[in-house]
Amino acid sequence: MIETDDMEFAPRIITPDNISEDSDIEVTLRPQTLHEYIGQDKVKQNLAVYIEASKRRGEPLDHVLLYGPPGLGKTTLSAIIAHEMGVNLRITTGPAIEKPGDLASLLTSLNDNDVLFIDEIHRLSRAVEEILYPAMEDRVIDIILGKGPSARSIRMDLRPFTLIGATTRAGQLSSPLRDRFGVIQRLELYNTDQLTDIIRRSSMILGIPCTADGAREIAGRARGTPRIANRLLKRVRDFADVMGNGQINQEIASIALSRLEIDNLGLDSLDRRMLEMIIKGYNGGPVGLETLASALGEEAVTLEDVCEPFLMQLGFLGRTPRGRCATNLAYKHLGIPLPNNNGGQLSFGNP
Ligand code: ADE
Repeated sequence: MIETDDMEFAPRIITPDNISEDSDIEVTLRPQTLHEYIGQDKVKQNLAVYIEASKRRGEPLDHVLLYGPPGLGKTTLSAIIAHEMGVNLRITTGPAIEKPGDLASLLTSLNDNDVLFIDEIHRLSRAVEEILYPAMEDRVIDIILGKGPSARSIRMDLRPFTLIGATTRAGQLSSPLRDRFGVIQRLELYNTDQLTDIIRRSSMILGIPCTADGAREIAGRARGTPRIANRLLKRVRDFADVMGNGQINQEIASIALSRLEIDNLGLDSLDRRMLEMIIKGYNGGPVGLETLASALGEEAVTLEDVCEPFLMQLGFLGRTPRGRCATNLAYKHLGIPLPNNNGGQLSFGNP
């Protein structure tokens, strides 16, 4: 289980972060092979080639950086990579590796061609990161023994290994670290068809009766994120058990999701508050992210990592050098009339 350090006491039902209730189902539902993994077709096709090539050469897979919004399956993909390579997987996170020695002991405990997965790799300290450079490039680590003038460094050889780094913020990685990954893949938000397939697969594994239109109803509101789709499936099942005959159909799903305050496109109250603040508080924008965050009493990173990718995908939000803008589509979705001087154009910014 990987948990975020800055978890809220009562996380939103549609937070893409991994919260404790996800851990049991995530493990049960996790696909084991690239073939079983739904979506991310380009990433899968490329990885299949790299995995096959390194297996034929008997070498470890080159180091891989996976980046993209949370909840899209970065940990799942690394488990699949290790499985397909026939090696062990060690999972850790950037903030958990406090000292260079912690990383050194992880690296020296790996077997040939094993995969070390570091989630939130952008949160590694500089001192730890510097141990990684020679480890990734030359399979060696320099260990400092002693302190002060008598300190000396010894170089240790490592077994061949693959580092898989995952991050939601590729822009925060230092370029020396980024440059040491041979494979860099961006994960994209999933479309409704892919999420419908994921929900149907999950409901089958969990033994939850679910019609095709029930699955589609949930999928359409899961903001492009399998982790949210699977979490909503569990919550909707509760409504189906209590209010219906246990089967999830479109009507039950729709009632349940409305009760969870998730609208027909998957926006929750924070998404709507954010758009309303831009429109009503700042005439549609542009407004700076920090200003917006403090007006809403939220963390800027929550808005940036969680709300924005989804609102931008829907075409509701524009990011300009001068700040965030609500689009005409956002006005329409929220039922707020456009100001008169707009001329009916679909444009960004202050209409
Ligand atoms: N469960 C979560 N993500 C999945 C995916 N991409 N494919 C299949 N099952 C999943």
